[in-house]
Amino acid sequence: MILFKTTTDLVKWLDAQRQKGNTIGFVPTMGALHPGHLSLIEAAKKSNQLVVSSIFVNPTQFNNPKDFEKYPITIEKDIELLEQAGCDVLFLPSVDEIYPGNFSKNRTYDLGFLETILDGKFRPGHFQGVCMVVHRLLDIVNPDNLYLGQKDYQQCLVIKKLIEIIGRQTIKVHICPTLREADGLAMSSRNMRLTEKERAKAPAIYHALLFIKDNIVKGNLAIIRKEATEMLDKAGFKTDYIEIADANNLTLLNEWDGHQKIVVLVAAFLNEIRLIDNMVLS
Ligand code: PAF
Repeated sequence: MILFKTTTDLVKWLDAQRQKGNTIGFVPTMGALHPGHLSLIEAAKKSNQLVVSSIFVNPTQFNNPKDFEKYPITIEKDIELLEQAGCDVLFLPSVDEIYPGNFSKNRTYDLGFLETILDGKFRPGHFQGVCMVVHRLLDIVNPDNLYLGQKDYQQCLVIKKLIEIIGRQTIKVHICPTLREADGLAMSSRNMRLTEKERAKAPAIYHALLFIKDNIVKGNLAIIRKEATEMLDKAGFKTDYIEIADANNLTLLNEWDGHQKIVVLVAAFLNEIRLIDNMVLS
């Protein structure tokens, strides 16, 4: 695996690869890698000649400074894992490399309704920060294919919208399934921050999703959402939201016709740690 720390070197190298006809699959990450990330590398390897991954803990997407300070950093292990997974290139930029002095942070992305719901509502500014960094990374890497994890369901829709906004529709977005621990907990870098006690409680999020999957019937959704929230309360979570939405566009639903493809989305805190998860039901 080749490691690049500067934009200039990476852009030059990738240009030469493109001229040779090599296609590029891109897996952007914030590090603290787990098998979920590695499954994205694996998917990218299947349909691209070259796989580029980036590790950059993007300060502009953290609405909570404490969350940023405590974000897990495991660079050496990450490099080992990427190498084992057969990643070809790792881009490991500094903050100045991504946001140089002449970079304007004033641009805003019109994400419309997507930014007013769920994490858009509970984490103000978060998706603008995601768009800022992903836009910059796409400009640098210029991939043919982009690989994202379904665990960040709303982020996947936001990034698709970003690609439309910046007119880069030739980049194909691939959304890969959430990987779970044996007890159902969705794999996430933030799981590393859970204490033993919190880790034991954490699968309650998955159980709440399964509860909705197994019990949802057409009609009003208020009661099932309330019951799932109570399950999380009992397990010691403080819930930001449990919502049921149209799986294609995230319109929040109060009623279900029994046919529409839907997604159940949860965000909840276990003490300081905020976990998110979702499940698509068809
Ligand atoms: O999902 C993530 O890890 C981040 O939000 C991303 C897409 C790498 C942007 O910083």
